[in-house]
Amino acid sequence: MGDQEAAHGAAAAGAALPPLPPGSEEGGCPPWLEALRRRLHGCGQQHALAFWGELAGPQREALARELAEADLEALRPSLHKAVAAGQPGQPGQPGQPGAALEPLPEELCGSSIASDPESLRDWEQHGLLQVAEGRVAIVLLAGGQGTRLGVPYPKGLYDVGLPSHKPLLQLQAQRILRLQRLAEERHGKRGALPWYIMTSGHTREPTLAFLREHGFLGLCEDDVRLFEQRQIPALTPDGKVILETRGRLARAPDGNGGLYRALGDSGVLADMEARGVRYVHAYCVDNVLARVGDPLFLGFCVRKGADCGAKVVEKQSPGEAVGVLCLADGRARVVEYTELGDEQARERDHSGRLRLRAGNICVHHFTLDFLKLVVREFEPQLPFHVAHKKIAHVDESGNRVEPTKPNGIKMEKFVFDVFPFAKKFVQFEVRREDEFSPLKNSDSAGVDCPSSSRRHQMALHYRWIQGAGGRIVDEQGNDAPSPAEESETPTICEISPLISYSGEGLESHVKGRTFRSPVILGDP
Ligand code: UTP
Repeated sequence: MGDQEAAHGAAAAGAALPPLPPGSEEGGCPPWLEALRRRLHGCGQQHALAFWGELAGPQREALARELAEADLEALRPSLHKAVAAGQPGQPGQPGQPGAALEPLPEELCGSSIASDPESLRDWEQHGLLQVAEGRVAIVLLAGGQGTRLGVPYPKGLYDVGLPSHKPLLQLQAQRILRLQRLAEERHGKRGALPWYIMTSGHTREPTLAFLREHGFLGLCEDDVRLFEQRQIPALTPDGKVILETRGRLARAPDGNGGLYRALGDSGVLADMEARGVRYVHAYCVDNVLARVGDPLFLGFCVRKGADCGAKVVEKQSPGEAVGVLCLADGRARVVEYTELGDEQARERDHSGRLRLRAGNICVHHFTLDFLKLVVREFEPQLPFHVAHKKIAHVDESGNRVEPTKPNGIKMEKFVFDVFPFAKKFVQFEVRREDEFSPLKNSDSAGVDCPSSSRRHQMALHYRWIQGAGGRIVDEQGNDAPSPAEESETPTICEISPLISYSGEGLESHVKGRTFRSPVILGDP
């Protein structure tokens, strides 16, 4: 492809580039290129074309397209704002002495642990009713790069080593199927339960290929829709775009808060509306225990009339690296552990528990109306946060550099930054060991890794079997140790999500029976 086609392609991608007139650059710089140069100069990014003269037509087209699509003028101001907001001592910063942070008041809190059985039954029943009526959509946040886990494919395809070797996406899809079934059994109606999967540049194709190859994991193909979040340029600390190669910018997904812009741009919100969806359950791909679409949480939020809500687990210690949900100036927000002052993190209440202990696990409830408002009005106000990362790039001579320490900044929006806009925000506490085991690192880290995910999932199933009146015994006939315990011969057990969503319906399989490890209740 020559310059002419390159320019036409770029013009198609962003109206900023008019088509290249007949002739080549040799007869002078074409007006569209001149305009691009001026634009880059105006925002201090002229180095982006440093290797232009060496690029072939398609590379020029791709680079011109990237530059046309990037909101170049906004990059530096966004970075400065994000850096300033992250500086200690900024007025109004939540962790600073004097900033009032309060736990949410009791009337806005629910719990699967401490609530009375009648309320629990009512919330679950009401949640299942919403599912049966087809009023619920599920949104999976699966656009992250998973750099800490360090595998070259999306985290959703990761197999944590359960006996079935089901990857995370399959476990989640099967929970959706089971949830639909439970709602149908309870209310006599089978509502559609659409699964919207947010991907990014590098997770989209493999995720889609996996779903196609596996028949959409048993779900109706029409009810599974991928949509893509934006990628934005990574920057040097002084706000310059970084060339990953001579003809390509280093770009990264714009954080899980990129959800809101993507929901609008992709037409997903309109699709939800057309389907009659009223409530949206959003969650992260990397929690093996995720109760996808949890009817209890849903029913609680709907009964409370909340436009937005979050599941939390009790923070284990003052230093635990988890954001806490609280009220700041009367508005719900998540305060990152790095933002929390030392004293605030240690403070205890009359019960001796941490005062700010509502650990955010990235499981959220939204009404569709609230999401529409966010997309229409609030999204541009969401702040960027900075993440210092190692960013591979080319040096001034065009040679590839793989940095050994962070050299650049990725800017990310966070999904929870919309909480302050909610009119009625609620929190719902759940047991960590039942619902939260994040997969962040490789096994060498020892925590939040494949082994811990596997152990926690099997330990939960072990408890379900015991709860339903079954026993797992060792060679001597004694109770076998829980799979949670690290051992050379760990107890193995796994229950297919198609058999049980949250421990229900197991009596007919296990009651009064004694098993030896491995205990596998596979797909029916
Ligand atoms: P993390 O913030 O833990 O990031 O994502 P990550 O990409 O999985 O892992 P690291 O930090 O590179 O090691 C939490 C959730 O948010 C999603 C992830 O897919 C995960 O479900 N996410 C993150 C997005 O959907 N988009 C993003 O841009 C970032």
